[in-house]
Amino acid sequence: MADSSILVCGGCGFIGSNFVRVLAEQRPQARITVADALSYAGYTDNLGDLLDNRRVVFFLRNIAEYEGMREVFHNSYDLVINFAAETHVDRSLYNTSSFVRANVVGVDVLLALCREFNVPFLQISTDEVYGPAGEKDCFTEEAQLKPSSPYAASKAAADLLVQSAIRTFGQDVAIVRTTNNYGPRQFPEKLIPYFIHLLQQGQPLPVYGDGLQKRCWLHVEDFCSALLKLIADFPSREIFNIGATSEYTNLEVIESLIRLTGGRSPVNHVADRPAHDRRYWIDSSKFIARYGALTQRDLRSGLESTVKWYLDNPRIFERLGGNEAQSFEQSHYHHQ
Ligand code: TYD
Repeated sequence: MADSSILVCGGCGFIGSNFVRVLAEQRPQARITVADALSYAGYTDNLGDLLDNRRVVFFLRNIAEYEGMREVFHNSYDLVINFAAETHVDRSLYNTSSFVRANVVGVDVLLALCREFNVPFLQISTDEVYGPAGEKDCFTEEAQLKPSSPYAASKAAADLLVQSAIRTFGQDVAIVRTTNNYGPRQFPEKLIPYFIHLLQQGQPLPVYGDGLQKRCWLHVEDFCSALLKLIADFPSREIFNIGATSEYTNLEVIESLIRLTGGRSPVNHVADRPAHDRRYWIDSSKFIARYGALTQRDLRSGLESTVKWYLDNPRIFERLGGNEAQSFEQSHYHHQ
């Protein structure tokens, strides 16, 4: 593992770039290649100086394009890990096909190439594939997939493709499903960075419905550390949940953001997201039994450092000024 060659797809996005940073730091001998389409949410800046100092080899590629990705596979890899995805539920309400293309076609292409070149494949998935959890539910990896949004359905479809590759081809693949990640370099359309931005601007905070939906928040660096443990002992043909246990309502998170930023924006309850899942809850005991404790900082300290990061790096909010981000914001928030 120490000097492995790893291809990270989607390595310029939020979780992918944090993973590349953690990998580069903790595995100095590892050879790292990133393939990323640099769509609206991917930025090479997220990799800091790792590209300039040639610590990371970069390919501008879309995982849904077989020929282009095939060229990348001519280098040999010990592992391919896929973070590339369309991830914003609200966007999936407007343009389902971009989600199917990135999240389903893209994974199909990667599976085919990993078979062709005989490389193990790790797919990064989400708790949203299980659908909403009741107060007493606790979804293990065996739970039925009941996705609510087009986003979650596309991720579930990818998971099913991966599972079918295990049964049909005996392929060397695995899936990890995680809860809401937060931390530095998240595209600022997501709840935490978006609301930090609105609080800085003194603009109203658009809370969907009653704001009592619950999410389990995992700091992205804690997730990436767990992934490093997992890839050091690759769990071929298995699925692992890696989820936070720090569960908060959206209003609780928002109150913390108001306190930490000192912002004075009004809370504005707006129309709820269609099919908005009230809660997710996944059981990570399979991961803990095999890889040991899941280190997770509590949301209080994690949010404090995260808010500080966004306040110290205000240029990240300029990304909301891009055409795609603006037209989404316009159609989603300004017709309420
Ligand atoms: P989000 O960051 O989009 O992640 P996900 O939907 O994948 O959990 O949203 C987190 C929660 O915050 C979710 O319950 C939706 C809610 N939310 C709002 O109430 N208003 C907003 O403007 C956004 C972006 C999210």
